[in-house]
Amino acid sequence: MKVLAAITGLIVAAEGAALGPQEPTALQSVLSLGKSDPWKPPNILLVITDDQDLELDSISYTPLIEKHLRQKGTFFRNHFVTTALCCPSRVSLWTGRQAHNTNVTDVNPPYGGYPKFVDRGFNENFLPVWLQESGYDTYYTGKLFNSHTIHNYASPHVNGFNGSDFLMDPYTYSYLNSTYQRNHEPPVSYEGQHTIDVITDKALRFLDDALEGERPFFVAVAPVAPHSNVDPRDLEKGKIVMTAPIPLERHKNLFPDVKVPRTPNFNPDEPSGASWIRYLPQQNQSEINYNDHFYRSRLRALQGVDELVDSLVSRLEESDQLDNTYIIYTSDNGFHIGQHRLPPGKTCGFEEDIRVPLFIRGPGVPEGYTQESVTTHIDLAPTIFDLAGIPPRADFDGTAIPVQPDFLGARHEHVTVEFWGQAVAEGIYGGIGPDGSTMIPNNTYKSIRLLGEDYNLYYSVWCNNEHELYDLSTDPYQLQNLYPTNARAHKEDGPLMLGRSLKQAIARLDALLLVLKSCQGTTCIEPWKVLHPGDTVRSLRDALDEEYDSFYGVQPPVSFGWCDAGYIVEAEGPQVPLTSRYGVSWDVWV
Ligand SMILES: *[C@@H]1O[C@H](CO)[C@@H](O)[C@H](O)[C@H]1NC(C)=O
Ligand SMILES: *[C@@H]1O[C@H](CO)[C@@H](O)[C@H](O)[C@H]1NC(C)=O
Ligand SMILES: *[C@@H]1O[C@H](CO)[C@@H](O)[C@H](O)[C@H]1NC(C)=O
Ligand SMILES: *[C@@H]1O[C@H](CO)[C@@H](O)[C@H](O)[C@H]1NC(C)=O
Ligand SMILES: *[C@@H]1O[C@H](CO)[C@@H](O)[C@H](O)[C@H]1NC(C)=O
Repeated sequence: MKVLAAITGLIVAAEGAALGPQEPTALQSVLSLGKSDPWKPPNILLVITDDQDLELDSISYTPLIEKHLRQKGTFFRNHFVTTALCCPSRVSLWTGRQAHNTNVTDVNPPYGGYPKFVDRGFNENFLPVWLQESGYDTYYTGKLFNSHTIHNYASPHVNGFNGSDFLMDPYTYSYLNSTYQRNHEPPVSYEGQHTIDVITDKALRFLDDALEGERPFFVAVAPVAPHSNVDPRDLEKGKIVMTAPIPLERHKNLFPDVKVPRTPNFNPDEPSGASWIRYLPQQNQSEINYNDHFYRSRLRALQGVDELVDSLVSRLEESDQLDNTYIIYTSDNGFHIGQHRLPPGKTCGFEEDIRVPLFIRGPGVPEGYTQESVTTHIDLAPTIFDLAGIPPRADFDGTAIPVQPDFLGARHEHVTVEFWGQAVAEGIYGGIGPDGSTMIPNNTYKSIRLLGEDYNLYYSVWCNNEHELYDLSTDPYQLQNLYPTNARAHKEDGPLMLGRSLKQAIARLDALLLVLKSCQGTTCIEPWKVLHPGDTVRSLRDALDEEYDSFYGVQPPVSFGWCDAGYIVEAEGPQVPLTSRYGVSWDVWV
């Protein structure tokens, strides 16, 4: 690791310098020093699972991923998604942009799904297209987006792939009766075969094609596990019933005694959370037993993914390309089961839903290393650009993740989390919505997750103008909402946060959220610069200086006019913060 430590300085120096296409980054130049071959763009293998949690411990049950990726690569412990739902999260991943900038905010039209992705012009403008233009051969198999169906797959076909074989709705989540659609051919049903067996075969064949090519390759594999199983016959009847995933036959009896971790937020005696979550009744024994079964089914279904990764890595090891291939493993969003009394599902802003696994292995990436820096899904496209030596796009809301260690100081401390529309409850006891529906409306909120050296916070504003504030350094399970129930009662005394009153801390967090909820490009990466263009405020700690109390005291608060199901700007209250000028405190200016 000595070499890597020595080049850290070089990377900092190179940041911001425009690189020509296919020119090596500083890291790549140093890695090729002393070798006779010039730097070659690396290959990239991306594995995206569906709904895989980090917080519920799923990665402790996948020994082959542990061996090939965690021990041979870096684990990004503080990796977050920006929207905890498949389609918006995947579009953010493929474009490097927050959902408020893609406006793909849901799984189905009019606010999301494949048709919305196409309407927004992203079929001409997303990662595989950019990689192909930069000299890559690109392959994809598995689930791309929701509402990518046996009816609309050809209108238009997905762009950007030399080879593709997509899972098709309404059979995407049907583990034993999946339908895939290859290149420009008609869809094919795999009735009676397990979807993981099908995708493993397809992924290995694409990897072989990629290895035979002359150009560097990008291969993406997106298995459906450990997502719930959905029976297409129910879907056709307009019912959405999401039941426990179905493992491969050989894994169906594993982990008989394993249960959902009984953390303090598991089915707590007191209600917790905000909005609809606060009204959930405590779960009874049948529900708890079912949730444990659901949890085990997820771990069992993941065994197929574990073996899939093993097969892919073995194939790379047999080739001469492993040394020039990055392997990236992640999921589209996290998952909760029973925490805060919730039935199985995602769509919330809690840790369980927004944290996902991220492993990166490849040339120059430290082995067995755990990276603490805050990283997010909108950083992945910029990271792949960086690894491939392609200069970043101006419309990226994220920024390349340095794959070398100890970068905390150089990275921002925030994650912007946003959600619009319905929450969806899964499992046989999912009927918790109005009239026993599994869909809960008004699950619209904006949040920030902030991890500084000595603070660890989550702040959220809901569309009904409820607020949440959790101090995760003292309350890691998010059970004590510190936000005063009566905002007018904000006092200067009471609990302190970083040595200042809650009122002062909330004023900073709210202004930061006001910037981030409509940020674009660099303002998403350096939001404090919007509030303090002329001075050196770069963190919550800096902003808490008493000097800025009056400036933060007059910011328009983040608020909603009403709850909407999509990104309707008029519903979303103030958009623009006041700005402190050139280091002069705001009250001097007025
Ligand atoms: C992959 O597609 C790109 C763009 O159409 C093309 O230039 C390249 O030659 C293709 N690669 C292979 C191996 O066919
Ligand atoms: C499996 O899917 C095909 C269509 O792809 C359908 O015709 C068939 O009825 C399905 N079988 C079951 C058991 O659902
Ligand atoms: C628990 O609640 C569910 C409804 O949510 C009900 O169907 C079930 O019978 C209850 N079980 C027990 C043991 O009370
Ligand atoms: C959802 O929000 C809308 C608009 O703010 C409101 O009219 C409606 O009553 C809310 N529905 C529920 C179930 O809370
Ligand atoms: C997002 O899309 C919806 C649905 O098409 C549209 O009504 C809304 O105005 C769009 N929002 C923005 C900010 O463009």
